[in-house]
Amino acid sequence: MHAERRPFIGGNWKMNSDLASAVELAEAVVAALGPAGAAPHALEETVDAAVFPPFPYLQAVGRALGHSAVMLGGQDCSAEASGAFTGQVSADMLCDLGCRSVIIGHSERRHGLGEDDALLHQKLAIALESGLAAVLCVGETLSERDEGRAEGVVRAQLRGCFGTLTAETVERAVVAYEPVWAIGTGRTASPADAQRMHAAIRHELGSLYDSRFAAKARVIYGGSVNAKNARAIFDQPDVDGGLIGGASLKAGDFASICRAAAEAWSATGGH
Ligand code: 13P
Repeated sequence: MHAERRPFIGGNWKMNSDLASAVELAEAVVAALGPAGAAPHALEETVDAAVFPPFPYLQAVGRALGHSAVMLGGQDCSAEASGAFTGQVSADMLCDLGCRSVIIGHSERRHGLGEDDALLHQKLAIALESGLAAVLCVGETLSERDEGRAEGVVRAQLRGCFGTLTAETVERAVVAYEPVWAIGTGRTASPADAQRMHAAIRHELGSLYDSRFAAKARVIYGGSVNAKNARAIFDQPDVDGGLIGGASLKAGDFASICRAAAEAWSATGGH
């Protein structure tokens, strides 16, 4: 963490839950992060927390979040504004439902559905134009890491996705480093490996834009983060939070991870 960058913690619920359990989880997250659940400050005031439920449950989860500071987000959006795109959901539709954030380029879409950087660039542009705080995911596969290409792959993804977007446009973006081999495997990057890649990402953002932009940009880590390992990862100077899969499905664990971020941030002099 760094004192000048407020932590961002996202709960990516993926294709889990049903309507009733999604609402229940949202209510439990609000209870754990809101004024009633924490001292001396509500966690929702110390960290930017967001939940990303499946599309069909967005409205119900949004209602359950009520006036809490926990943000609602979509797991994806279309690269198109509107029209004949069966099954897709536009960035404006997400805004309409009260979303303030959206995940772009999750590896389960890059590798599972073949989304490439050119498409993700369009999605990122339209999401940011709609006013959403887009969380752009980047990360290498295990074979890319074993071949010593991890940093090059991630830098190329950043260049491909940010492309020609101006610094002003991408101000609201958050970058999530999610090594593909660490997602849902129980295997996390070591804090030192995460730090090394986060520093490389920040360096690449500096070359794409400038050092002031890079110093302000939030780069979060995702991949088997849980209540136990979160603090060591968040203590790294270039790690500004996390994108949490499995552990975000339990409100208590999600809150513990938010608390770890708040404590790591506070240790740097941030508050
Ligand atoms: P897990 O935390 O389940 O490994 O998932 C990480 C992830 O993909 C978050 O987007």
